[in-house]
Amino acid sequence: MLVIQGGSVIDETGERRADVLVRDGVVSEVAPGIAAPAGAVVLDASDAVVAPGLVDLHTHLREPGGEDSETIETGARGAALGGFTAVVAMPNTHPPLDDAAVVQSVLERGRGSVCDVHAAGCITLARAGAVLAPIGEMYDLGVRLFTDDGECLSDAAVMRHALEYSTALPGAVICQHAEDPALTAGGHLHEGEWSSRLGMTGRPAEAEVTIVARDIALARRTGAHYHVQHISTSGAVDLVRRARAEGVRVTAECTPHHLVLTDAECRTFDPAFKVNPPLRQAADVSAVIEGLVEGVIDAIATDHAPHAAESKAVPFEDAPPGVLGLETALAVAMTHLVTPQRSRLAGVLGALSWRPARLAGLERHGGPVAPGRPANLCVVAPSEKWVVDSGAMASRSRNSAFHGQTLDGRVRHTVLEGEPVVMEGVAQR
Ligand code: DOR
Repeated sequence: MLVIQGGSVIDETGERRADVLVRDGVVSEVAPGIAAPAGAVVLDASDAVVAPGLVDLHTHLREPGGEDSETIETGARGAALGGFTAVVAMPNTHPPLDDAAVVQSVLERGRGSVCDVHAAGCITLARAGAVLAPIGEMYDLGVRLFTDDGECLSDAAVMRHALEYSTALPGAVICQHAEDPALTAGGHLHEGEWSSRLGMTGRPAEAEVTIVARDIALARRTGAHYHVQHISTSGAVDLVRRARAEGVRVTAECTPHHLVLTDAECRTFDPAFKVNPPLRQAADVSAVIEGLVEGVIDAIATDHAPHAAESKAVPFEDAPPGVLGLETALAVAMTHLVTPQRSRLAGVLGALSWRPARLAGLERHGGPVAPGRPANLCVVAPSEKWVVDSGAMASRSRNSAFHGQTLDGRVRHTVLEGEPVVMEGVAQR
């Protein structure tokens, strides 16, 4: 038994001051002034918010095949420390998650973790963009998100078939890493002022915009649910906005880094800022923030992409793209969106919890904090400051783009199915 005392509960039904009593993994009472029953674990939520646990649509856990940079265990621990109670593992592993047996093995390894581990499946075999993977078999295991993430599905006919196929599978979502490889070939950062100044080949915004435009046309025609991963350009945000207004089933996620960082970070040649899609210009950052605040962008997804220290300790051009995200996502959003405007708090929590939960069909997560619901919760102190130390993270990798920064918003406790897996900022196992 567990009671969370002294906080404000925020979920999609609104905000109220209330304590939360959890029995047998389930929320049993939500009311002010609940006295702790004998033997109950008491979690302090004073000056803090109690919310449904966060849900990440986009986590690279690197298992199988990349265990030097992350494992399901270390990634799940980082997720719990970041307030997440569920993550969707990306399928660009070795081997890739392009058949039911590999998906099954990841789900089995994830079972019993400190965070609920789900998996996305590949759209095409080996993420090669040519032949559809057995999407139906993976769907039967509960997979709802399909993506060749890390690679763009650039063949329009294959994308069309994937979208058509998905319409027979309720809740299935075809997700795109929208960067046309013909336009990004050889590129290391956004094509613009900084790529010119630094003398490095860039990846133009049009690589994203043209793919999103094409895919929206295909989604309109097929009626399928199409999702733009890590949206990064003002042009693509505009396209999603217009398509949604028309009733096309298109959703989008943005990352914490695309919400706050620009390509100017690359001026130091620090590979910590190398990521795909690349950090963009200030006008794109503003458009992504606007899209999120407006609700055109549904979710903040981390794109947690661990890379072992040695692999990032190379020149910018040679470094693999990716930044860590799980342990800083909430605080980055708090610092840059909520601290300047407190009224955005519920929207930010929604983008990190109930909206991605619904998008991924994760019914045990993101729902209202109410009697009868599974106790998947996080307790966050929105204005508590802390300094990011990538060396102290649970991840096996250290490639945070926020190392050394002071952020607002500390995850105090995370509760998974009634078990306090993080207490006072410390992982319990
Ligand atoms: O920066 C990135 N890193 N973008 C991706 O799409 C893939 C990811 C990775 O797997 O490292």
